[in-house]
Amino acid sequence: MPTNPTDHPVLEVISQRWSPYRFVPKEVEEEKLVQCFEAARWAASSFNEQPWFWIVARRQDSEKFEKMVGCLMEANQGWARNAGALILTAMRPTFSRNNKPNRVALHDLGQAAAHFALQATQLGLQVHQMAGVNLSQVRQEYGIPDDIEPQTAIAVGYRDSSKPDGELAEKLDERESGPRQRKKLSEQVFSEKWGNQAEFVS
Ligand SMILES: Cc1cc2nc3c(=O)[nH]c(=O)nc-3n(C[C@H](O)[C@H](O)[C@H](O)COP(=O)(O)O)c2cc1C
Repeated sequence: MPTNPTDHPVLEVISQRWSPYRFVPKEVEEEKLVQCFEAARWAASSFNEQPWFWIVARRQDSEKFEKMVGCLMEANQGWARNAGALILTAMRPTFSRNNKPNRVALHDLGQAAAHFALQATQLGLQVHQMAGVNLSQVRQEYGIPDDIEPQTAIAVGYRDSSKPDGELAEKLDERESGPRQRKKLSEQVFSEKWGNQAEFVS
């Protein structure tokens, strides 16, 4: 996979981060996992609430790992079971100091997940995030408290860059090889009025 074709120079880890479908079925070093969680821990959040939580299952802990694979939507199970570790994400939608709604809790979880992904990239790992998770199953199987909302899953591991071997690997390789596309900045960065492209972006 080439470096992302960014229109402007960005941090190297941003140009190198992408979401692979083919992982080498290999453990992730404990120290690297801890560093990724540490990077997530230092994300900014509204009122410094840090509303995010992670449940982790490493592939070497095979029973825990299989339990988590079983919580993913079927379409994700096929490729994600090769990851070095799986993570379920959750967030507290209210502030712990006053129980009032925290309308940006999901924003903060996303930002922490982005920190995680970029740190992983810096360490030679790759991350593939998933919305395709059976959330009611997660709630039940992991005993998630009523005031916490499970949200997504994250596969983290080493990308398999070998020649695809077998039907599934070929299909996944094809998916990975699709064009990497993004909207133009001009569709996203406005000035003065909704839809007015900011004059300095193109
Ligand atoms: C919150 C979130 C949920 C996602 N859910 C899935 C998913 O369930 N299955 C999947 O194959 N990819 C999933 N993706 C991966 C996106 O499809 C991918 O990030 C997007 O196509 C951009 O590609 P890139 O990450 O390689 O730049 C998800 C990504 C995010 C951030």
